[in-house]
Amino acid sequence: MTLTSSYSAVSAPRIAHHRTFAMTPPTHFTVTYAINPWMDPTVPVDTARALAQWEQLCRVYRDLGHTVRLVDPQPGLPDMVYAANGGLVVNGRAIAARFTFPERAVEAGHYADWFTAAGLGEVYRTAGTQEGEGDFLVVGERILAGTGFRTDPATHAEVAAITGLPVITLELCDPRFYHLDTALGVLDQNTITYYPPAFSEPSRRLLAQLYPDAIIATAADAEVLGLNLVSDGRNVVMTDAAPGLAARLREAGFETIGVDLSELLAGGGGIKCCTLELRPSDPDRPVPHRTE
Ligand code: ARG
Repeated sequence: MTLTSSYSAVSAPRIAHHRTFAMTPPTHFTVTYAINPWMDPTVPVDTARALAQWEQLCRVYRDLGHTVRLVDPQPGLPDMVYAANGGLVVNGRAIAARFTFPERAVEAGHYADWFTAAGLGEVYRTAGTQEGEGDFLVVGERILAGTGFRTDPATHAEVAAITGLPVITLELCDPRFYHLDTALGVLDQNTITYYPPAFSEPSRRLLAQLYPDAIIATAADAEVLGLNLVSDGRNVVMTDAAPGLAARLREAGFETIGVDLSELLAGGGGIKCCTLELRPSDPDRPVPHRTE
C-alpha cells in the first residue's frame, strides 16, 4: 500500500490550545462610508442581526473553552467590531494600530487604552501605518505580514524589533483581499491555508517555498471570506459559506465549526476580523487583566 500525502495529513494529531480573545460587539455597526470594495453605504445594514450573529461567534469560542474579553464599543466607530485591526499582542507585548483611513483613526486610542486597562503594560506604537492582526498573522515562531493596501511595509521591521520574531513580508494585489487575514488563515504553528491569486508573484513563490503543505483555497472559498478564520490548532471556526474549504480542512484532520457572520460581510470583515488574539508572554500563564 502506498501512503499518500493526504493519508499522512489525516493521521497528523491535531491538538487544541487555549486562546484568549478580545472582541468588540457590533452595537454601533453600520456602513456609512466605503474604505474597501465590500462596503456600500446605500445598502442598509441590520445591526440587530449583526449583533445576534456576533454573539453566536462568542458562544462558539466559549463553548470551545476559550476566553473572550469584551472591549467597549464606541458610538460613531462602526468598524470597531473588527477588533483584529486594533493591534497585535505577542509575547505579552501590545502594539497599537495606526489606521490608514481617517474614518477609523480614533479606534487606535480606544484599543490602546483597553490594552493598558487589561494590564498588558507599555503599549508600543509604530511610526508607520499598520492595522494590527489584519495584516500581521503569527504562525508559530514567525509573523507573516501583509502590505499593498493598508499596512506600510516599513512597519514590518518595527514589529520584528518589538516582538523579537522574524517578520516575512507578503504583498497583496487584489483589492477585495486588502488585509492579509482575508487571503490567508493560520491553522496551527506550521500550517496555513491561503488563496494564491491574492498575492503578487514573488510572494506566491515565497509562500509555496515556506509552506509546501499549505491547504490551497479556491476563488469560491476566498470570495466569502472563508480564509478569515480562527483556529486553536484543532478546531477551526470559519464561515458556514465555504463548504469546499471546510471539507479540505477536515480531510487534513481539523474539526470545522461553521458560523453565519454574513451581516458583518457588509463591512468587509469576517470571523478573524472580529477576533483579536491576546498572546501572553508565558503560555502557561494567562494574559493579565484588571478590567472586564
Ligand atoms: N471595514 C473595515 C475596514 O475596511 C473592515 C475590516 C476587516 N478586518 C479585517 N481584519 N480584515 O477597515
